[in-house]
Amino acid sequence: MNAARKHRHWHVETDADGIAWLHLDKADSDTNVLSREVLLELDDLLDELTRKPPRGVIFVSDKPGGFIAGADVQEFTQLQTEDEALEAIRRGQGIMDRIEALPCPTVAVLHGFALGGGLELALACDYRVAEDDPGTKLGLPEIRLGIHPGFGGTVRSIERLGVLQAMNLMLTGRNLSARAAKRIRLLDYAVPRRHLHTAARACVTRPPQRKPLPFWLRLLNARPLRPWVAKRLQREVAKKARKDHYPAPWALIDLWVRHFDDRRRMLEAEAASVARLMTGRTSRNLVRVFGLQEKLKALGKQQDFRPRHVHVVGGGVMGGDIAAWCAMQGFPVSIQDREHETLGRVVRRAFDLYRKKLRPRRNATAALDRLMPDLPGHGLRKAELVIEAIFEDAQVKRDLFAEVEKRVPDDAILATNTSSIPLQELTPALERAERLVGMHFFNPVAKMPLVEIVHGPDTSPETIERASAFARRIRRLPLPVTSTPGFLVNRVLMPYLMEAVVMVEEGIPLAIIDRVATDFGMPMGPIELADTVGLDICLKVAENLTAHFGGEVPGILRDKVQQGRLGKKSGEGFYVFRKGRPVKPAPEKGYTPPTDLQDRLILRMLNEVVACLREQVVADGDLADAGIVFGTGFAPFRGGPVQYIRERGPGQLHALLESLSHSHGERFTPDAGWRKLIETASEAGAEAQDDG
Ligand code: NAI
Repeated sequence: MNAARKHRHWHVETDADGIAWLHLDKADSDTNVLSREVLLELDDLLDELTRKPPRGVIFVSDKPGGFIAGADVQEFTQLQTEDEALEAIRRGQGIMDRIEALPCPTVAVLHGFALGGGLELALACDYRVAEDDPGTKLGLPEIRLGIHPGFGGTVRSIERLGVLQAMNLMLTGRNLSARAAKRIRLLDYAVPRRHLHTAARACVTRPPQRKPLPFWLRLLNARPLRPWVAKRLQREVAKKARKDHYPAPWALIDLWVRHFDDRRRMLEAEAASVARLMTGRTSRNLVRVFGLQEKLKALGKQQDFRPRHVHVVGGGVMGGDIAAWCAMQGFPVSIQDREHETLGRVVRRAFDLYRKKLRPRRNATAALDRLMPDLPGHGLRKAELVIEAIFEDAQVKRDLFAEVEKRVPDDAILATNTSSIPLQELTPALERAERLVGMHFFNPVAKMPLVEIVHGPDTSPETIERASAFARRIRRLPLPVTSTPGFLVNRVLMPYLMEAVVMVEEGIPLAIIDRVATDFGMPMGPIELADTVGLDICLKVAENLTAHFGGEVPGILRDKVQQGRLGKKSGEGFYVFRKGRPVKPAPEKGYTPPTDLQDRLILRMLNEVVACLREQVVADGDLADAGIVFGTGFAPFRGGPVQYIRERGPGQLHALLESLSHSHGERFTPDAGWRKLIETASEAGAEAQDDG
């Protein structure tokens, strides 16, 4: 091969067959992204390739991790106006058009991640080959950032895959394996790594025959059928995303319905739509949440802690699932309990989880092999991490830790999953308190992405970093919090749940209470959530928190627990459950709910977040937002509670709290922390005015 001129991010090699290989290796970065500079260089290269077309053009990435991970999200946030955004998108779109227009065969060679703009570039090529490997992940995940593909990807994916597969890819934002992508015609070849380049070259020298889309799939794109198909797509979308909260999926469907007849027009409309979405509130906030997620992941990168053996004590609801999850993520795990039967249940539950989540079957078997029932606790001897998840009783836990410390290696970390006991109450049992840390998982472990990393006054920074690193290793997000009652998530969630219960006492229909919360954007209403978590657990947490912070636990909650109405697990709580789903009685005809319900629910939560910030339960507002979004599902399109406070204005919310405290009681008294937020906001406002 002979190498032609070098750019900063790209270099071109022309091989003996006259094929130009365009290598992307973005400077100063582990990952290829389509930054402005990368695109401008490519544009420049395309000048030359258009002037003097080679025999073929093949795009490859020199990064071991993957092809191209997408557009540059950081640059995205710097685009202030819709016009600026439109210009940037048109530039990208224009480059993809030029690739498509090259008069020679073009091929993209994909390995690792080929996502978003990266896959759009591949779609602009005539052919795509990818490595057949579990690490290959192809997708158009833009919808997760509140936009849709904007570099021609909406048009080209529908042309290539048909509307059903393309919309499925774009509306869900999910990743496909190479084999799945080959099945839906996204790839021409899925081959082992050693054959990748041969396959790419073959696409140029002996272009593969490609079957056209079946007639019925093309028919779905016909003008008279599009509205009918769109209705079906919209119905699916409506189950997950309201138009006013998440406009992107709706805009995407609309784009296709209105413009698919006219390619040029659809491309123009695609760019305009992304520019509008990208500068809108939802996308801004979703990009923020994406950044918060990266921030939490980064907290797990300060150390490289990969325990050779993990030992979990307590095989109940939490311990069993924590052990199963850790084994699923590749760690050898022993699980100890006092009872044989409990361990049997742990293994059975783990097997169900693996069967659902792991393919092929042998991966499920391998995960099960890593999970070792261990009644006597032999695993302690070699454990580098012990996670305790036994009864919530300080004395029982102290006794256990005293015993555990005698048996584990010197450098082992001791973690407790306690949800309410301050670490300070456990340390007296230990010789070396600096290695005790909380790892507070949420139920269900396999679904909830957050783990609060709880540190007491004695916990060493190294222990916190190691626990965070382990959380990241098992694909959970670590959030460092202080060892104060309820930590962050339960402390903030509980006032919201309790306010909902007060509303029940006031006679507000259950379904209405839940609806005002889902209208706000919560994934589930508070009454349904309390029933799902279990009313006994809610009562325990509420009692613990009121013991520390004052306030009252609503009597109706105690009554329900006394009557054995514990929620979903007992078949009845506030709701009656049928087949695991709550039956929600409709409110009486003509019922008009009070107008302040939503504010009452949300403001109790916000007030507690402000208190946590003042007490520095978490280090800053970003981490508070991250914790609440990933720990409770708080409306991601609102960017988190602190972001929501900024948007509505702390002064206004403070006034609202005061007025609610007059009408509904002391529980709404604004926390002292609001003052600081109000001052910061007014300083920022003054600065913005100065700039203006
Ligand atoms: P659970 O009652 O379901 O399980 C506790 C298990 O520990 C039982 O299987 C019991 O046999 C075993 N056990 C008790 N003492 C033991 C000992 N000395 N040695 C070995 N095994 C022993 O309890 P759950 O709900 O799993 O809670 C465990 C811990 O996790 C508690 O500290 C709880 O506060 C915390 N937690 C619970 C959450 C939940 O939603 N249930 C959520 C987050 C934390």
